[in-house]
Amino acid sequence: MSTISIATANEVSELLREDLCAIEREFTRQSVSPVEMVTDIATYLIAGGGKRIRPLLLLLSAKALGCTSQARIRLGAVVEMLHTATLVHDDIIDEADTRRGRPSSNTTWGNAKCVLAGDWLYMQSFRTALEERNFRVLDLLISLTQQMVEGELLQMEKLGHLINEEEYFDLIYRKTACLFKVSMQLGTAIAESDDDYDQQMGEYGRNLGLAFQIVDDVLDLTAAEEVLGKPAASDLREGKATLAVIHALERGTGADREAIRTVLADRSFTRVSHPQILEILHRHGSLDYAMDTACAYAEAARLSIAELPGSDAKRALLWVPGFVTSRDR
Ligand code: IPE
Ligand code: IPE
Ligand code: MG
Ligand code: MG
Repeated sequence: MSTISIATANEVSELLREDLCAIEREFTRQSVSPVEMVTDIATYLIAGGGKRIRPLLLLLSAKALGCTSQARIRLGAVVEMLHTATLVHDDIIDEADTRRGRPSSNTTWGNAKCVLAGDWLYMQSFRTALEERNFRVLDLLISLTQQMVEGELLQMEKLGHLINEEEYFDLIYRKTACLFKVSMQLGTAIAESDDDYDQQMGEYGRNLGLAFQIVDDVLDLTAAEEVLGKPAASDLREGKATLAVIHALERGTGADREAIRTVLADRSFTRVSHPQILEILHRHGSLDYAMDTACAYAEAARLSIAELPGSDAKRALLWVPGFVTSRDR
């Protein structure tokens, strides 16, 4: 096997700085509507920042296959716009009041306006994608949208119930990992690469996206809201059982299971406190189990691109999994 070093964070930021700035400009340019309220909400959302990990993946995928066309900037904006629209809808569904360290848009403008602004932004991302005149691009985005909506609906059906690991992985693939996979595949679509690379890049995105959501779910249980920038311990309060909780449910004593069931059914910590749940999770090694699982998917992502020719973009793709598993927000 060839040895290729993993890039540093500085190298990755240097490699992508210009393209990521161009994507911000494109996103801003695409967020103007004749109706002022749409522009106001979109401007507020862009200014909130975010990790921009999906456009970063798209750029690295395209670059690793030698693509330098302007399509990478437009499609980078497309995946971030689409992601932003899903966050607007997600915060309405989850009744969340903070996002990226600020009041969430639904708190400021209310649910009704934000549903519509989210729809507008979603369609604007499709309008931008349409400029490529590439059916593969549309095919990927349409299947993705259906997966994400199905994921959110399935999740709602399971709220308050105990789910198993298989159901959990199906959910997080649809709601999160599928967009990571598609971001990578859009990079290959504009690079016009062969099917083998498309498959490898897609597999990288899927593995990385699963790791990403597992970490998001662990952080929801363990992190402070000030660091996270969004409500902490919200999954249990919404009745969502995530990986560490599923692990504890399968291994815990009768009393442990009862405590977890109570929080999920009540959708609140009034009868059983958040520290009590954390104690149960620690006692069974459930948080470590979830993080070990995330790290295994992160490693699987690295292995997925082992056959890709060496390049700075590949070295950067090898860096991303470590970033995902060590992040704190
Ligand atoms: C949040 O995504 C939604 C999930 C899939 C967990 P990010 O954590 O990428 O959110 P931003 O864009 O950085 O705020
Ligand atoms: C990700 O799930 C949802 C989306 C795909 C939009 P979460 O509900 O866990 O995301 P956060 O924690 O609110 O960012
Ligand atoms: Mg949410
Ligand atoms: Mg979450």
